[in-house]
Amino acid sequence: MYLASFSTILHNPTGSSQMSAKMMSINRITASSSPPPVKTSITSQPTSLPIRTVPGSYGLPLLGPFVDRLDYAWFQGSDEFFRKRIEKHQSTVFRTNVPPSFPFFLANPNVIAVLDCKSFAHMFDMEIVEKKNILVGDFMPSTKFTGDRRVCAYLDTTEPQHEQIKNFTMDTLKRSSTIWIPTLTTLSDTMFDTIESQLPSGPVSYLIPIQKFMFSFLSQVIAGANPENSPDIAANGYMRMDRWLAVQLLPTVPITAFQPLVEIFLHSFPYPYFLVSNDYNKLYEFIKTEGKDVISRGQTEFNLTKEDAIHNLLFTLGFNAFGGFSIFLPSLLSALGSAKPEIQEKLRQEVREKTGSTGLTFRSVNEMELVQSFVYETLRLNPPVPLQYGRARKDFNIASHKSIFNIKKGELLCGYQPLVMRDPEVFDDPETFIADRFTNKGKELLTYLYWSNGPQNGTPSASNKQCAGKDFVTLTASLFLAHMFMRYDTVTIADASFSVLEKAKQ
Ligand code: HEM
Repeated sequence: MYLASFSTILHNPTGSSQMSAKMMSINRITASSSPPPVKTSITSQPTSLPIRTVPGSYGLPLLGPFVDRLDYAWFQGSDEFFRKRIEKHQSTVFRTNVPPSFPFFLANPNVIAVLDCKSFAHMFDMEIVEKKNILVGDFMPSTKFTGDRRVCAYLDTTEPQHEQIKNFTMDTLKRSSTIWIPTLTTLSDTMFDTIESQLPSGPVSYLIPIQKFMFSFLSQVIAGANPENSPDIAANGYMRMDRWLAVQLLPTVPITAFQPLVEIFLHSFPYPYFLVSNDYNKLYEFIKTEGKDVISRGQTEFNLTKEDAIHNLLFTLGFNAFGGFSIFLPSLLSALGSAKPEIQEKLRQEVREKTGSTGLTFRSVNEMELVQSFVYETLRLNPPVPLQYGRARKDFNIASHKSIFNIKKGELLCGYQPLVMRDPEVFDDPETFIADRFTNKGKELLTYLYWSNGPQNGTPSASNKQCAGKDFVTLTASLFLAHMFMRYDTVTIADASFSVLEKAKQ
């Protein structure tokens, strides 16, 4: 039961209607020989745009949020919900409500949606936007899920602990970079060996194998903790993470199937921590015992208490990294499965040419332009964390491509990345998966690739809220693809399963 519901979250995180739209676009993967040029530079927009009142309203108290909630989570799904309102208001900036809300959530559902690249980018400016406790909107899961403390992702940049913890996370990743490639290749070989052994009986789903592989890889590179040293965690660690994640996130995830039951039973109240306390305690003990070196560096070099170091490591590992990759790697493989055969051929050629006799290295992967572009294009069309929030620190003006709007201190901005990164003013043929979109001159578009809560050519730091793992994520995905194309000539993928893995002949 749990697997069925959580796999819905993982693999259809924004609702079924949106997924079908995505599948349509992915099925149109092209093999264009030259990527489309950057259509427009945001900074070159005229500054004398007309001033407009933010259109839209929150409706009647209780009723307005309730109607919007049903549209968002049931009748329309998140994609259509935002698209329809853009059309209605003839604006990519407007007022609306987003769940969770009434009856048992205390959260305020009123937001100002920002749905184009230009208005969304205001959320990266920490002078005007505050990020305290709004990781998933005005609703915040209980701190009981995180050891009775607010972990890094819920801290604003003005809170001193944000700097300590973010620097700790980035330092940990940097230090473990020597083991990334060997750990990734060894674990993915184990995964593919197992899948190959099961293939004679028919297609093999990659969803659980990827979770097992990623849980082990991320535990080692983020916390220095090897699950193999703990039999319970080796067998059940990834499922314990899944349950802990699902119970926190369920209230915010639209599920258009099984309605109205989902609305009544899954979206009406926050879940209590005790449902997953056993899972969390087991994961906590694992990190405390096996991650000793990393924890003690958190204490000595970053002035964290032991408890702060452990709970933050666990959150980064489970929520940020494992949660993100559990959505991202399956969508990367799904994009590959829908791509025309010549795309696989080009990827394979590039991987083998750049890898040469030295084997995979950071340098060789950095030279694989098409592999990286494929990874970026997957993140553009299927950003694993679709929603971002930012609260106005003061009154300010926000600009879309067409108008300027006045935002009042305290108002909550809400950006929905799947539409933002299909902004037709920025991306040519925005609904189409173009594998080489980000190669050559197309690299300029990285400024508008926002999946990490910041531009892909930006730098995560203590003074912003960009994902601490930004480069690690794209590099890991590129390494994963490259390693796969060293091992196989072609792979056949459909319905989240491998059906053929054709071993490399040379
Ligand atoms: C596919 C994988 C990942 C995705 C899609 C992802 C996405 C994101 C996004 C969108 C945010 C900003 C959330 C917000 O404030 O609205 C974020 C923040 C963060 N991510 Fe990632 N992430 C991934 C993997 C990782 C990894 C591997 C790490 C570290 C090892 C990491 C560490 C963090 C941290 C610490 C923050 C909070 C940053 C801050 O408070 O300044 N993430 N991530």
